[in-house]
Amino acid sequence: MARILTAGCALAFILLIFLLPSDHFHTGIAHAEWSADDLATLRHLRLSTDALAEKNKTNELLFRADAIALGRQLFHDTGLSGSGQISCASCHRPEAGYQDTEFITYKLDPQTAHRAPGILGAALQDWFFWDGRADSLWSQALAVIENPKELASDRVRAVRHLCAQYKKDFPALLKNCRGLSAARGEDIDRMFVTLGKSIAAFEAAELLPPVSRFDRYVDALDAGNYAEAAALLNDKEVAGLKLFLDPMVGCVNCHNGPMFTGSGFFAVATDMPGQLEHDRKRGVELLLDSEFNCLKWSTAADCPKLQYLLTDSAETAGAYKVPSLRNLRHAPFFMHDGRYRSLEAVIEHYRSPATLPLRHIDIRPAPLLPHQRKQLLAFLEVLGSGDFNKEQQ
Ligand code: HEC
Ligand code: HEC
Repeated sequence: MARILTAGCALAFILLIFLLPSDHFHTGIAHAEWSADDLATLRHLRLSTDALAEKNKTNELLFRADAIALGRQLFHDTGLSGSGQISCASCHRPEAGYQDTEFITYKLDPQTAHRAPGILGAALQDWFFWDGRADSLWSQALAVIENPKELASDRVRAVRHLCAQYKKDFPALLKNCRGLSAARGEDIDRMFVTLGKSIAAFEAAELLPPVSRFDRYVDALDAGNYAEAAALLNDKEVAGLKLFLDPMVGCVNCHNGPMFTGSGFFAVATDMPGQLEHDRKRGVELLLDSEFNCLKWSTAADCPKLQYLLTDSAETAGAYKVPSLRNLRHAPFFMHDGRYRSLEAVIEHYRSPATLPLRHIDIRPAPLLPHQRKQLLAFLEVLGSGDFNKEQQ
């Protein structure tokens, strides 16, 4: 009798193993089982600021304490806007991970509104705006000030404000303010650039993404500490990470590097044919026209991005900048036009992207079963888990 019972229990146990979804069995050992190639990819995705100086090499004010302090004040200064009512922080709200939780640009202009991406870690990227029409963080800030749909001011006003408000506190940076009344166009431009570089210095110093649970997981794997790794990511999250790296799913082809963006531009079936598009094709035109692009302010050797610019419109039409996937926790909208309101909807988009005839598109449908979509979602949420200590309590 006892034997029959034991055999029955064993059978039931074996059946149970087959019936449970496979991701229940990642516990413990799975963390030790990453291949050398996968581990190399994971290390490459870990947050790192090593590239900061290289990416911002046309900004000589980077790391200067006075520029950082000035930039911090300017970021919150409504005096830079034409209306005197909004500042950078109105749309990139510090308390919401520097996201625009209100979609203010949509309220200002529903026709062409682009969503404000979160800007933590912007200083680690190569291109700015969804169409990449700015090639440096400092020129990005200048474009915002003169954009009628954003700060809606102009450089003369901005420089006058800068001098009136800040020259006493920042004499070394703003010494040219003394000659302001006699300043010519190019003197104004130069001061305007100092303003942009100060904001960028602040962003590079203080607006970096928090270390996430994912980063700590890779640290634990590196140290061979699998018990700690297991405590950091649960089975579902690890399964999601595996899907993220899976060549059949393809996410990591575009979302790679420490910011989960390879800084490329791709067409992922989010354009609206027939409508005026602000895609990479247009971004390239605007960039080459920009008065503040790298070639106009630096030597060619400092501007490889512009020298090797991809201008083939077959590749750039309908393409947008690959956004970072870090810190999306506070994002209420997704994609350049904010068309989706949840990460689930974005994942569904990749499962069945809307294809149109004759449209260039860089993705294939990702074969994701319902439980795999949940796993992928769980992993994306890990990347927003910056407030690590609070979450662990
Ligand atoms: C009215 C809202 C608004 C204001 C004010 C605003 N932004 Fe933005 N910001 C946006 C939107 C929308 C985008 C994306 C626009 C696009 O790509 O076409 C953006 C993009 C950016 C980006 C590029 C992010 C990326 O990954 O490409 C940075 C950096 C940024 N803003 C910084 C600033 C700074 C600095 C200021 C103040 C000088 C500022 N913003 C003021 C709405 C705003
Ligand atoms: C061919 C390159 C490519 C691949 C592959 C790819 N993405 Fe993207 N991803 C993009 C681009 C480009 C955008 C921005 C599109 C837009 O805004 O119109 C984007 C946007 C996103 C966003 C929205 C982020 C935001 O701030 O709005 C998420 C989330 C995302 N991708 C996750 C994924 C996941 C998960 C996968 C794998 C299933 C994946 N991506 C595969 C290029 C890619």
